Amino acid sequence: MSNNEEQLQISRSRLREAEAIAKRLPDVLQRRGLRPAFSDWLLTAEHGLTWLFGVLDLRRVGRLEQYTQPDLLHHLSTAIGGRPVYLSNSSGLRYAVLLSAPPRLPRRVDFPGVQRGSAVLGQRATGELLRVPWERLGHLLVAGKTGAGKSSFDRLLVYQALAEGCQLLLADLDGATFPMLAGHSALLAPLARSPEAMLTVVERALGECDHRASVYGQVGGFPENLAEYNAAAVREGVAPLARVLVVLDEYNAAVLGSGGANGPLSTAVAALGWRGRKFGLNLVFSAQDFTKAVVGRVRDQVGAAFCFRVRGAEVARAVGCPAAVRIPEARPGLAVTDRWGPVQTCYLDKTLLVQAGRPGVRPALSAEEQELAEAALENGGRLSIPLLRESGLSEWQARKTLTDWEQRGWVRRDPQHDNARYITAKLHGLLSSPQAAHTASSPLKPSQTVAMEV
Ligand SMILES: Nc1ncnc2c1ncn2[C@@H]1O[C@H](COP(=O)(O)OP(=O)(O)O)[C@@H](O)[C@H]1O
Ligand SMILES: [Mg+2]
Repeated sequence: MSNNEEQLQISRSRLREAEAIAKRLPDVLQRRGLRPAFSDWLLTAEHGLTWLFGVLDLRRVGRLEQYTQPDLLHHLSTAIGGRPVYLSNSSGLRYAVLLSAPPRLPRRVDFPGVQRGSAVLGQRATGELLRVPWERLGHLLVAGKTGAGKSSFDRLLVYQALAEGCQLLLADLDGATFPMLAGHSALLAPLARSPEAMLTVVERALGECDHRASVYGQVGGFPENLAEYNAAAVREGVAPLARVLVVLDEYNAAVLGSGGANGPLSTAVAALGWRGRKFGLNLVFSAQDFTKAVVGRVRDQVGAAFCFRVRGAEVARAVGCPAAVRIPEARPGLAVTDRWGPVQTCYLDKTLLVQAGRPGVRPALSAEEQELAEAALENGGRLSIPLLRESGLSEWQARKTLTDWEQRGWVRRDPQHDNARYITAKLHGLLSSPQAAHTASSPLKPSQTVAMEV
């Protein structure tokens, strides 16, 4: 156990407990056939919280996913008398065990703004912002009784998905969550307002998977996920694909109203869960109640569950977050997750989504992106590493920006010209200043307008 000054504030009994835990966690890994590849144990006391961190040696762990599964965390927690075990991956991978009493999360965490490539979800008990790259987010279960913060959380996801250029498939049976998005251009199908319409939305999503399966087959390298496909597409000069966020609000009720867990809706969704991961579709199952049978059909495909205040212990258990029964009535937005422990989800002003929902209003570029795009426009629409370097980016940042922008369909290579990258109509459409819109029309070439269909 490494020493640091703060350890002086840690009592003897805590130290003994930490030592016992540091012995037990490797045993659990070993029993599950995993290497107990701990490289260090750290004990810290900060802001009144005492944490024990078990640091894993990433070079020795083999397949990382095996070390991050919710049921392993649960197993680790059970082995140490129920103390929660969280993942902390701010640097490398660490298990975090809170030795002191659980902290009080703030009642409100304002959404700090879009972070390109990731979804910002809330604040964790560790004090860290919970921010997950879209490609690692997977499918989500969201449970909570009326007033607990479900719709707000779904809107938080949708808002960020729109800013990311995702397409949407939304079901909103009671019409209270997404009315402002009816008719939005990012919707692949009309907003569903009935269980039958929800099935249509799911079928549309399956159709999108079929389409993407054939498109994946047309590039080299046998892509296994959207990032791999988009990288190949960019290499081969074809348009990249957008991620699709599918939100099924009142999912449980819709399933019960259409044949139950073995009915057509539940069966179509189970198929979509498996296929969607490969083709860049993220599903969000949102409901007041979840029965075991309904969760059972999708459980293995869900990356994380967010359980807000629920009606009873059974629902909390069904979604794998039994501790959620302790969430008080007066804490909307507070959720227990099976992956990151308690999280105060970010509060997003609903009117922001209203604005994003207005026809013709596109998600804003960050100030930096706007600046770089304008610099490219002044350069005849051409974006290059030297130009990005001139704008103050390091070589590495410049290369990453070009790759990211190509994958988002913001720039395209022009083989007919000088094989340089040119900004596309898609990026042009995102630029906010009227002056940019005016000067941009000329540099766009016919081959680049293809990207508009993305
Ligand atoms: N993340 C949050 N942080 C703080 N307050 C929230 C948060 N989410 C929701 N609330 C509050 O709770 C109320 C109900 O939220 P809502 O999302 O409509 O709940 P639900 O869809 O579960 O019925 C909101 O009007 C808001 O005042
Ligand atoms: Mg609601």
